[in-house]
Amino acid sequence: MSISLPKPELKGEKSLEECIYERESIRNFKDKIIEVEKISQILWATQGRKGEKRTVPSAGATYPLEIYVTLKDKGFFHYNIKTHSLQLITEDDLSKNLARASLDQYFIAEAYLNVIICAEFSRTTNRYGQRGVRYVFIEVGHSAQNIHLEVVALGLVSVPIGAFDDDMVKEALDLPKKIEPLYIIPIGYST
Ligand SMILES: Cc1cc2nc3c(=O)[nH]c(=O)nc-3n(C[C@H](O)[C@H](O)[C@H](O)COP(=O)(O)O)c2cc1C
Repeated sequence: MSISLPKPELKGEKSLEECIYERESIRNFKDKIIEVEKISQILWATQGRKGEKRTVPSAGATYPLEIYVTLKDKGFFHYNIKTHSLQLITEDDLSKNLARASLDQYFIAEAYLNVIICAEFSRTTNRYGQRGVRYVFIEVGHSAQNIHLEVVALGLVSVPIGAFDDDMVKEALDLPKKIEPLYIIPIGYST
């Protein structure tokens, strides 16, 4: 099963400066569904395709990032960048496991949407050696900041999560061996 996402909009209601000013880490989420148009917009900002390139820069255009999401009522998905769609992995709600793997930061399980930014390091280290590791970490920051700003533009809130046990997250989400989780971003409507 896959969910095709609507075409992203290039105009919003808030200016970039308002989004930068209003961005802050919010950890209280309403029990409310996020509309598919907004999910589409967030994933496009995270790693959306723009011809051969994407909405975030990448060292040597090696594009090491892979994006996964949990949707509270629908399950766990992989973002297909090429087709701008979500591919269902399991209908189980894995957000509780994700919260447990993240030092029990319970609000992760309360967010309607969690974006898990992962990487296959070898795509970049094959070209740049050890330096490529730094490039991947920098790239995750580009992607995450796009998410935080887009979220504000859409009237939602988010928080970046770096405190988690890598192996526990990999196990909780049953990620492929070569895919490393780097950042978790819970998103929802604020209470
Ligand atoms: C790399 C990184 C990791 C973070 N990890 C967590 C985390 O695990 N849990 C959490 O609640 N906040 C986390 N934060 C959010 C910070 O606590 C927050 O950005 C900081 O307190 C400043 O507040 P602001 O984001 O509202 O400006 C993280 C932020 C960064 C940049």
